[in-house]
Amino acid sequence: MKSKSSIIKSLAVSWVFVAALCGCGGSHLTPSGRAVFVTSCNACHSLTGINTPRQQGGDLLDLHLSRAVLLQFAREMPVRHQLSQAELGAVVSYILAVQRRG
Ligand code: HEC
Repeated sequence: MKSKSSIIKSLAVSWVFVAALCGCGGSHLTPSGRAVFVTSCNACHSLTGINTPRQQGGDLLDLHLSRAVLLQFAREMPVRHQLSQAELGAVVSYILAVQRRG
């Protein structure tokens, strides 16, 4: 049987995970998908549902792409610093989480 403290610990871990996914927990997990988006994608894309001519890549909120296709796009974008696998995964998770939230 699980001890009470290990249950509390796993609850805490899953909360940190959810907070990292929604980008609202001020989490210090690295890499943060939100941070990657802000530094690598935000110059050309928004994630708000509003298209502005300033952002040449357009808004990504209403895209309905699979995780695999999103990853492929993210990999091919002209980002300033090449992203690691972990950063690509994190930024795609962040985009999908914001899209689900609407
Ligand atoms: C230097 C500008 C630039 C940067 C930085 C950039 N993109 Fe793009 N992105 C574009 C352009 C331009 C397009 C093509 C838009 C179109 O065809 O409407 C595009 C298209 C996309 C698409 C497909 C959109 C669609 O409507 O099918 C996705 C998804 C995407 N980018 C994700 C990302 C992600 C994730 C990042 C950050 C890792 C990123 N982009 C960084 C310019 C950029």
